[in-house]
Amino acid sequence: MLRNHFTPYMITLTLFAAISGLLFGYDTGVIAGAILFLKKQFALNTFQLQIVVAIMLLGAAVGALFAGPLTDHFGRRKIIIGAALLFIIGAFTLALAQKLSHLIIGRIIVGLATGMSLIATPLYIAEIAPPKTRGFLVTCNQLFITIGILVAYISNYVFIHIQQGWRYMFGLAFIPALVQAISMLFFPETPRFLVLQHKGNKALKVLKRTRTEKTAQSELTKIQKDTKGRPVKVADLLSDKIKPAFIIAMALHIFQQITGINAIIYYAPTIFQMVGFSQAATAVLASVGIGVINVIMTFVAIYLLDRVGRKPLLDIGLAGMAFSMFAVAVSIYFQKIQGAHILSLIFTMAFVGFFAISMGPIPWLMAPEILPTKLRGKLMAVAACSNWVFNFIISATFLSLVEFFGFVITFSLFGFLSILALLFFHTAAPETKDKLLEDIKIPKLFSKEQ
Ligand code: BGC
Repeated sequence: MLRNHFTPYMITLTLFAAISGLLFGYDTGVIAGAILFLKKQFALNTFQLQIVVAIMLLGAAVGALFAGPLTDHFGRRKIIIGAALLFIIGAFTLALAQKLSHLIIGRIIVGLATGMSLIATPLYIAEIAPPKTRGFLVTCNQLFITIGILVAYISNYVFIHIQQGWRYMFGLAFIPALVQAISMLFFPETPRFLVLQHKGNKALKVLKRTRTEKTAQSELTKIQKDTKGRPVKVADLLSDKIKPAFIIAMALHIFQQITGINAIIYYAPTIFQMVGFSQAATAVLASVGIGVINVIMTFVAIYLLDRVGRKPLLDIGLAGMAFSMFAVAVSIYFQKIQGAHILSLIFTMAFVGFFAISMGPIPWLMAPEILPTKLRGKLMAVAACSNWVFNFIISATFLSLVEFFGFVITFSLFGFLSILALLFFHTAAPETKDKLLEDIKIPKLFSKEQ
């Protein structure tokens, strides 16, 4: 029975594919430390610094759009390899940069790589994983994102004392990228992509390596049945079968960003300083705490997603996120009272913890699950592109929002958006736990049938 759930082969393949998450998390986190050096060395003003930080997100949005047709044409695996090569080029461009334009080009390359790999990897794992462990396996990518962020926070701390330390910080990313590019040469394409390419025999071979004979054969028959028929046309996007799935996938990715996670991930030390942790070192330490909670709670998500299902986690996670954001707002409102800043820290951590069991992993897991095989790459690309665009908008405007409205209103707004998300997904999202991708039915939006 083990063969239908976990095999060492399936786990190895997942871990190497999920290096994409590690690279994204690392490049996200490392910039916070690197800008402290870059500011001095290249005499950058605030605007230029913001460009160096944010341009990666726009690169990712473009990379995601490219990745859609590319994964549908060349396959999921080749795009993971291509993105790993881009990560390597980006790491060297940044590590060797001599002027601002080199930094910007390097960040764009890393962004393109991120956008491409964060489409190809969840698709790859979701399409190859046996249904009962799909939540666990796809979420390894999210786990690696959180580990990447934490490693970056730690490397920021280590390299801060070394001359030209930023060059090592950027350059180090080439090691995991190289490991991924080489290892992926030895892994197969996904059975679903192979069927789309009319390579049924090869697909069966891959299924047999990761399932029992009998399950492999019946799964192949289902995939073949599901992908038969005329090619999908743009007009099909409006059909009752595809439209609700696409809307839910988009909503998952947009709500992931507009509920405020990256206001915290990118600006944690700044926020903590503003609310009363006067020393920079304490503020940085507090943000390492955020990184640790993020990793630990993602392990919890990995454990729970295939056991309790996606929907209960969405409900609990979003309710907790809303509550924590309002609680942060209230504790900041009473900032003058002694100890209130500790409460803001605790509730910020609680927010990250609730995010990590719900809106962190579930958009990356559920979007490829619910989108139809024939259009999975392209539609996933549009959904993920909106993720990067909204990530960009929130990270580029957060400090101004705080300046204009103050912390209390800004955090309450995030809390309110979590409530909206809770209502939407509670009503509209399907449960995908244990189901074969081909058996997942999306109810018409806002109808009760599942
Ligand atoms: C999101 C990122 C976020 C990270 C935090 C990911 O799922 O896409 O924007 O920074 O989670 O763990």
